[in-house]
Amino acid sequence: MDVKSLKAEFGKRFGGACNVFRAPGRVNLIGEHTDYNDGYVMPVAIEFDTFVACAETGDGKLSLQSLQEPKPAEFHLHESEPQPLHNWTDYVQGVLLQLKRDGQTQRGANLLVDGHVPIGAGLSSSAALEVATALALLGVSGEELDRAAIAKLCQRAENEFVGSRCGIMDQFASLYGRAGKALLLDCRSLEVRFIPIPQDVSLVICNTMVKHSIASGEYNRRRAECESAARYFAEQHSAQQHSRVEALRDVTEDDLLQYGGGLSDVLFRRTRHIVTENARVLAAAGALESGNLSAFGQLMYESHRSLKNDFEVSCPELDIMVDLAANIPGNYGSRMTGGGFGGCTINLVAKEMAEKFAEQIANDYRSATQIRPTIYITDAANGAGPAVS
Ligand code: GLA
Repeated sequence: MDVKSLKAEFGKRFGGACNVFRAPGRVNLIGEHTDYNDGYVMPVAIEFDTFVACAETGDGKLSLQSLQEPKPAEFHLHESEPQPLHNWTDYVQGVLLQLKRDGQTQRGANLLVDGHVPIGAGLSSSAALEVATALALLGVSGEELDRAAIAKLCQRAENEFVGSRCGIMDQFASLYGRAGKALLLDCRSLEVRFIPIPQDVSLVICNTMVKHSIASGEYNRRRAECESAARYFAEQHSAQQHSRVEALRDVTEDDLLQYGGGLSDVLFRRTRHIVTENARVLAAAGALESGNLSAFGQLMYESHRSLKNDFEVSCPELDIMVDLAANIPGNYGSRMTGGGFGGCTINLVAKEMAEKFAEQIANDYRSATQIRPTIYITDAANGAGPAVS
């Protein structure tokens, strides 16, 4: 629905005028599972948005509806112990709660959500909902927060209320995205460098249609494994009076060689993924800046292999999608993107070949799996803000 129609629909459902905010999903070009290890990522915001239409009321509650969901919900602002309902409304309630904890003024409001980011596809529909909600509620209270603070607040909503221990990448990309640019983000310092994406390539996203659930135990388990490996290296370093290890970001290839033998096979491989993936992101940034798309593409394939074999977050359908794409002309590189266990691959394809690529990968994947995939050809988009009609 366009913004004008959404405003009209809001008027029909709640009465009166509203403001509309939008927040995009994201696709990550390279740097997977590195964000919660204080490492590097390279996402772009995509041309799919979640919209939240919003108006203040004087009644001390938040009334919530969605164009995609049949059931409305209502939350009281002065509820002392809000409880998750284990559905989409948790992202909204989580943000509401964090704004309260942050000392932001709480005002009653009506909210109507219209989500266009595919759900469960690893394209950050949840971050888009959190960010659009935060902007809408800040709009109602008239208070200001800088973008990095909004990103962290939305991440806390997901960590503490929804129960997924995600990193900062998705919320950050949704807020900081820029048309035509990838974001090279240092997840420790939150420093960002915008890297132009050459105009002659398209980002082609291939949805395996296998739904992933990031709140599922596997994601949190990977994070716990990384923390446990980081503790091990911290002990080794402190025994040798080497520099401090606070996260796997601080572990080097030399450390892996020198101390890796003391880790279990699983923790060794998890660490090797993080160490090599961080190096790949930095190499990929250089390749993109110098327009070396073949080098960038090779790093994408290596990233996929590492996610499959060392980090073990791929699945057969993602592997098939990557293997098939590697044989199609015009494609520089492919890999799974996002948390994994399903969802999408990202492919860097010569612009003039993108339509043909999309057609062929859809046919090939369907023949191989009997599943009809959805293919999106997108460019890097701008980050969240007020939506213009
Ligand atoms: C999910 C999380 C992100 C990040 C990716 C994996 O999208 O929300 O924080 O960890 O998985 O790179």
